[in-house]
Amino acid sequence: MLAIIGGSGLTQLATLDLIRREVVRTPYGEPSGALTFGRVCNTAIVFLARHGYGHTIPPHRVNYQANLWALQQARVDAIISVASVGGIRADLCPGRLVVPDQIIDYTWGRKSTFHENSDEPVVHIDFTEPYDQSLRQRILAAAGAAGEPVLDGAVYAATQGPRLETAAEIKRLERDGCDVVGMTGMPEAALARELGIPYAAINVVANFAAGRGSSETRICFDEIEVVLKEAMGRVRNVLNHICDK
Ligand code: HPA
Repeated sequence: MLAIIGGSGLTQLATLDLIRREVVRTPYGEPSGALTFGRVCNTAIVFLARHGYGHTIPPHRVNYQANLWALQQARVDAIISVASVGGIRADLCPGRLVVPDQIIDYTWGRKSTFHENSDEPVVHIDFTEPYDQSLRQRILAAAGAAGEPVLDGAVYAATQGPRLETAAEIKRLERDGCDVVGMTGMPEAALARELGIPYAAINVVANFAAGRGSSETRICFDEIEVVLKEAMGRVRNVLNHICDK
């Protein structure tokens, strides 16, 4: 079974044939919402809205531990994260789809491991490649079959939020080698790795990052909504092709 964690602009999957909803309790508290089980084409899917179904949970308050634990309890084989980002690189303009291959984590104060007990031996996960390569290839192949252009490979900067960045912060992220910036990629990816669940992401560029392109002096939220509405249609098309295999 494939899990899809939907972010801003993707709080439900219109093409999902609903089977049931399940409220899962975890040792880490409540997930963002009930897990929605269903089918897309011939694939069993479980969908979770990262920010809650009413989009009320900000990035720094998402219970990433509970979300990942609940998906593991549901015995998912893989997780695809859909998340909106700001484009730092000049060619990553609003509407582009990106399958990132690296992460730099600038978040702080989030519960970022399942191994917090002091009586347990220290656990280090390998995170050289934070995204599962074969799941990435599956997404890229599906995008190709769907005729949706996607960028293969980008460095994702995970910022704390919920405020957007300053222009100087974006310049620093660029110097660090980041291509896109979002607020939810971590610790989600690391927690998935701790649980051994293959994880990859589809990023949707919602806006030029602060100080770039049309965001030179400010970021326009009305534009973001329009961009996400259109682009999420293309993401759904890609997801349908993944499920069609
Ligand atoms: N910065 C951080 N997160 C984001 C942005 C951004 O510009 N756009 C969408 N998510």
